[in-house]
Amino acid sequence: MPVEEKPVAIVTGGVRGIGRAIAEELINEGYQVLVTYCHSEEQAEQMGKLLKEKVVIKRTDISKQDEVDNLFDEVLKQFGRVDILVNNAGITHDKTFHKMDANEWHEVIDVNLNGTFYCCNRAIPAMRDRNFGRIINISSVVGQKGNFGQANYAASKAGLLGLTKTLALENAVKGITVNAVCPGFIDTDMVSVIPDNVKTKIQDDIPMKRFGTAKEVARAVKFLVSSDAGYITGQELNVNGGLLTH
Ligand code: CAA
Repeated sequence: MPVEEKPVAIVTGGVRGIGRAIAEELINEGYQVLVTYCHSEEQAEQMGKLLKEKVVIKRTDISKQDEVDNLFDEVLKQFGRVDILVNNAGITHDKTFHKMDANEWHEVIDVNLNGTFYCCNRAIPAMRDRNFGRIINISSVVGQKGNFGQANYAASKAGLLGLTKTLALENAVKGITVNAVCPGFIDTDMVSVIPDNVKTKIQDDIPMKRFGTAKEVARAVKFLVSSDAGYITGQELNVNGGLLTH
């Protein structure tokens, strides 16, 4: 397919972990994929060398509105369309709430929730113009049930669920679906830094007794952006090994 006809997918935080797995699934599905990263220079370089022209990689701090605006200006100029937006970029600053300072609160909200707002703010008008769009917000089981040491992260991920449902209602008539994927504990760098004693306890609590893989999350995203999922919007798709069952 000529480059200019390929549907375009943007995956934030797409050079490692869950985002990288999502980007690879979408490349395999034939999308023109653009990924952002913020600090992971090395992984970005490695991904560029491996995937070459199959992916466009842009450094973007999604917590800064002007950087997100530049990103979308460039994408729309180069490709003229945005078909899929996967809001995946996220950070943690884990600490019990009574020890958490305002910076640790704001930094997490700024990336995870405000960053998603900035991306949707630019993607939605472009999608509405073409009467098509798929937005996937990567939330978390932590946003659904809370987690010890993650008040800031839980609030940001719960915020994404409210955003998802509202955007779904407002944009359904324009052919845009908006869904959330809620991963449980997935074998990524984010989980690898959990203290060993806590990690063991978490794993014990998971009915499947194992962490998930990034690919298992990516496959859920692949489904939700596919035409098979065209009538699904405003939903939370859990990929959590049974950790939460509603
Ligand atoms: N349940 C019950 N008790 C817990 C606990 C839990 N889940 N986690 C920690 N504790 C306990 C500790 O064992 C410790 O107890 P003791 O004092 O008796 O040893 C106490 O709580 C720690 O209290 P502190 O006030 O010292 O805690 P802190 O402010 O230093 O924070 C912590 C410690 C950052 C919470 C640390 O325990 C930690 O990193 N926990 C893991 C947090 C976590 O699950 N993060 C998920 C990362 S993955 C992710 O975010 C992706 C996703 O979407 C799921």
